[in-house]
Amino acid sequence: MTSILIKEKVLEENRRVHALENKLYLPRHPEQTNFFQEGIVETTLDQICSQLNPNAKILDLGCGTGYLLLRFLRRGFHVTGVDLSSEMVQVLKNSISENEKERARLEVGDVESYIEENIKKFDLVVFSAVMHHLFDYELVLKEACQRVNSGTKILIFFEPLKQKVNPSIRYGLHRCLSWLDEKFYQVEMGIRNIPLLEDEYHHSDYQRQFGGIDPDIIEKIFLNEKCSIEKVEKYCARRSGVNAWLANRILKTQNTFNILAEKI
Ligand SMILES: C[S@@+](CC[C@H](N)C(=O)[O-])C[C@H]1O[C@@H](n2cnc3c(N)ncnc32)[C@H](O)[C@@H]1O
Repeated sequence: MTSILIKEKVLEENRRVHALENKLYLPRHPEQTNFFQEGIVETTLDQICSQLNPNAKILDLGCGTGYLLLRFLRRGFHVTGVDLSSEMVQVLKNSISENEKERARLEVGDVESYIEENIKKFDLVVFSAVMHHLFDYELVLKEACQRVNSGTKILIFFEPLKQKVNPSIRYGLHRCLSWLDEKFYQVEMGIRNIPLLEDEYHHSDYQRQFGGIDPDIIEKIFLNEKCSIEKVEKYCARRSGVNAWLANRILKTQNTFNILAEKI
């Protein structure tokens, strides 16, 4: 299959799967909302927002149902959200209160096309849990870095960390905790009557077949494109907050990363 056909297939799968995710997206992904991850999100946002001008304009690429976009909006910023899925965007639209609407702009579209045309006017560009859905995340990031103005920040958040399989006891325990975490999750979703989409993700989470996203590649792109790296954070996300706490505080393992950079 040619790369154009594969790219089209990845886009099509993302539209299909996220139409199914819809308003159940965040309830189905407690790894983004449990107390441990909540601490990471809020600390990251506090740190970034303290460096932004109050009139700053923020672009959230692949904004989904507004995981980060709604938080920026509630902190008083002007935000633009772009997402491929009209269903996800509709859920987000319904979550924005009347008094926040004038500071929010939402568009349905592909991140790559949006970057080509519109990225210049933003002070912060966010990619949250979207890079691993892209056919060519390296190209998208390079284009974003080349098109933003000097001083613009780029946040890459909550991406699956590509890493080597490690034959240690600690890694074995990491896999056991992951297994247990999934079992608890399946029971919890059953009790809450939330249907799972496990088999649906295969083609939409395109980069997972290659093991996730390599933060070293991201750092290299930032440096080549004249962006300074302000923060690299690696940690272990889990469905349950208690399991995330155990993984990070006791096992000290990693499967997720965040990177903040600024165009020089
Ligand atoms: C895992 S969700 C993350 C949503 C949100 N950013 C968050 O952190 O919760 C990935 C989102 O990226 C969107 N997406 C996937 N590929 C995209 C593309 N090429 N252009 C725009 N959005 C895309 C999906 O529709 C979905 O809403």
